[in-house]
Amino acid sequence: MKIRTVGVVGSGLMGSGIAQISAQAGLPTVMLDVSRELVDKGVGRIEGFLRGGVEKGKLTEATKIQTLSLLKGSTDLKDLSDCDLVVEAITENLQAKRELFAKLDKSCAPSAIFASNTSSLSITEMMTATSRPARFLGLHFFNPVPLMKLVEVIRTIVTEEEAEVAVLDFVRKAGKTPIRTSDRTGFIVNRLLVPYILDAIRALEEGVGTIEEIDAGMKLGCGHPMGPFTLLDFVGLDTTYFIAGIMFDEFKEPRFAAPPLLKRMVLAGMLGKKTGKGFYDYSKESPVPLNHLTD
Ligand code: CAA
Ligand code: NAD
Repeated sequence: MKIRTVGVVGSGLMGSGIAQISAQAGLPTVMLDVSRELVDKGVGRIEGFLRGGVEKGKLTEATKIQTLSLLKGSTDLKDLSDCDLVVEAITENLQAKRELFAKLDKSCAPSAIFASNTSSLSITEMMTATSRPARFLGLHFFNPVPLMKLVEVIRTIVTEEEAEVAVLDFVRKAGKTPIRTSDRTGFIVNRLLVPYILDAIRALEEGVGTIEEIDAGMKLGCGHPMGPFTLLDFVGLDTTYFIAGIMFDEFKEPRFAAPPLLKRMVLAGMLGKKTGKGFYDYSKESPVPLNHLTD
C-alpha cells in the first residue's frame, strides 16, 4: 500500500493546509469543496502562504510553482476516484461526515484509504458509513497545518496495520511528526487543550481578567505562543463550539461544556479571525480586544 495521490475534502482552514503540504511533498492532490468560490478561496489561501514562504526565504519560487502545479481544485467527488488516500476536513458534524464518506465509498477505489481530520468525533462512527473499516483512520492535523509539526494518527480496533503504516509514511513524507493514538474522543491533544480554552472563557465571564490580560498571562507566564483567546479566534469559535458539544456529550463532564458566551458569539456570527471578529476585532491594523463582551 503506497500513497501516490491524495484527495482532500473541505478547502477551509484545515483542508487547504492539508492539501498544501501534500502537494508540497510532491504528491498530486485534489482539493474539493461544495462550491467553486470556496475552492478558489482555499487555493488563494495556499497561494498566499507559499508567496509568504518565498518572501521569507523559506522556500524557492520553483517549489511554489511545483506545489501549485500538483494541486487541482474541484467540486466533483468523481475527481477523487483515483486517489490512494482521501482526507476529510469538512465541518465538525457527524451526520455530514458520514454522508460524505458513504458517497466517497461508492466513487473511490476499494483499496483507497479514508482518513478524517476530525477534532473530536468518533472515527469508528464514521468508518461504519463505509465498506472499508479496515482502511479507515483518523489523521488529525493542527492549525496552521503548514507550520505545526504534529499529526495524530488514530487507529480503531479494526484498522489494518498496512493502512496505518502507509499513512504514517505519508505524514513523515509531508515533513510532520506523527504520534499514534486510539479512537477516544479528543484523542491526546484536544483532551487536554479543549478544557483549557473553555476555562479561559469561563475565567473571562467571571471577571478574573481582561482578554488581553488572560492572553498575556498564558503567553508570558507559561511560554505559550498564543494566549487562549487568540487561539480560540484562530481555531474558529464555531469549530470550538461543535467540539465542546461533542466532547460534553461523550464525557458528561462540566469542563467540556461550552460556556454561554461562546454560544452567544457563535449565534451572533462572531467566529474569530475567519469572520474578522471574535474575542478580538481584526479590522484594524492590530487586533483590538472586545472586552465589552462580558458587560
Ligand atoms: N511559509 C513558510 N514558513 C513560514 C511562513 C510561510 N508563509 N510564515 C511563517 N513561516 C515560518 C517563519 O519563518 C518562522 O520560522 P522560524 O521559526 O524558522 O523562524 C515560523 O514559521 C513561525 O512564523 P512567525 O514567526 O511568522 O509566526 P509566529 O512565531 O508568530 O508563530 C504560530 C505562528 C506557529 C501560528 C504560533 O503562534 C503558534 O504555534 N501558535 C499556536 C498554534 C496552535 O496552538 N495550534 C493548534 C490549534 S488546536 C488544533 O489545531 C486542533 C484542533 O482540533 C482544534
Ligand atoms: P472550516 O469551516 O474552515 O472549513 C470547512 C470547509 O468544509 C468549508 O469550506 C465547507 O464549505 C466545507 N464543507 C462542508 N461540508 C462539505 C461537504 N459535504 N463537501 C465538501 N466540503 C464541505 O473548518 P476547519 O477549521 O477547516 O475544520 C475542518 C475540520 O478540521 C473539522 O472537522 C475540525 O474539527 C477539524 N480541525 C479544525 C482545526 C482548527 O483549528 N480549525 C484543527 C484541527 C482539526
